Amino acid sequence: MNSKFLKSGHIKIYKRENSKFWQMKIKLPKLKAIRSSTGTKILKYAENIALKKFSSLNKYNEIKIKNKSKNIYKKIHLVETEDLNKKEIEFILQEAIKFIKFNKKRIKKNNLLEGRTVFNLFFEDSTRTRTSFEVAAKRLGADLINVAVKDSSINKGETLLDTMTTINSMNPDVLIVRHPEEGISKKISMNVDASVINAGDGSHEHPTQALLDALTIKSRFKNFTKLKIAICGDILHSRVARSNIEILNTLGSSINIIGPKSLIPKDLEKKKVKIFHNMKDGLKNCDIVMMLRIQKERILGTHIPNENEYFKKFGLDYKKLAFAKTKAFVMHPGPMNRGVEIDSKLADDVTRSLIQEQVSMGVAIRMACLEILINNRDNYGK
Ligand code: CP
Repeated sequence: MNSKFLKSGHIKIYKRENSKFWQMKIKLPKLKAIRSSTGTKILKYAENIALKKFSSLNKYNEIKIKNKSKNIYKKIHLVETEDLNKKEIEFILQEAIKFIKFNKKRIKKNNLLEGRTVFNLFFEDSTRTRTSFEVAAKRLGADLINVAVKDSSINKGETLLDTMTTINSMNPDVLIVRHPEEGISKKISMNVDASVINAGDGSHEHPTQALLDALTIKSRFKNFTKLKIAICGDILHSRVARSNIEILNTLGSSINIIGPKSLIPKDLEKKKVKIFHNMKDGLKNCDIVMMLRIQKERILGTHIPNENEYFKKFGLDYKKLAFAKTKAFVMHPGPMNRGVEIDSKLADDVTRSLIQEQVSMGVAIRMACLEILINNRDNYGK
């Protein structure tokens, strides 16, 4: 019998003397081995078929198949930043850089993702994330469908997972999901064949926001490990803060967290951050000041007394920015409450504020994420 092992013994390709086609045996940890015919007589094709089969069975986990391309991020979903290691983050940022240049061209259209189908499924309001994914998909030639979830059969009692599996039956390539339930994107990714991107799940995570923030920082500073970054405001309810803490920690930056005690979650003490309750101490020596939206609908009168009091203590204006480094930059994921967490003039000051640049980087990052995930589906997915 002719045989060959791939993927450290997880995949065996074999051919008996009297059989026509190469056979494959795939063994995943904790699962029974699967044996079937590859349906081909050619060893090279059989290997590819077996690798693809292995990857589709193992799709949620990282697939450590050696690949000729320099691809570092080999998963088919992007749902949590803690799944990303330093090399993977750097790879995504590097991929996005080519799209920054592309997005400055007069004609911003290519066919990298022609014939691919992407669904925007936003169960919460969004301007930046939803439209930037739409722009990103269309610039890459994909077909993007915005599902009007407010008019969907969810209103007739259909469960979210039923809606997702229904859409999944239309063979989409990517589902982009924003939803108030924490962890829902991960759950969906385990129930559909399509790639899933978490576009914000409750107060939990917003991975592409943190990636675009990192790309914005990278455009101004060479080395993340030399940076001190302040994240200020309503940390308790902020998925942006959670994802940024994870990614900036992984990239080696120092992080100061600033906010009133009532808006700092207890579990943050386990993270590699320093916690401050006043801007003067927290902003000292910072290169970047990231302000967060005060989620007025959830916290006014409960976690903070009123907007004016909040602005006096924690709102960023030129006077408080002077506590940071002389040339420190200001960031904000948007939407902003002008005069509550940030002074309006400072927000618009292009010599200090990177807020509009963040929006622009958002398109590049989302183009990179779509391209990477769809390529991974082709190479390692189903
Ligand atoms: N930063 C962000 O997620 O903005 P949107 O809510 O407008 O998408």
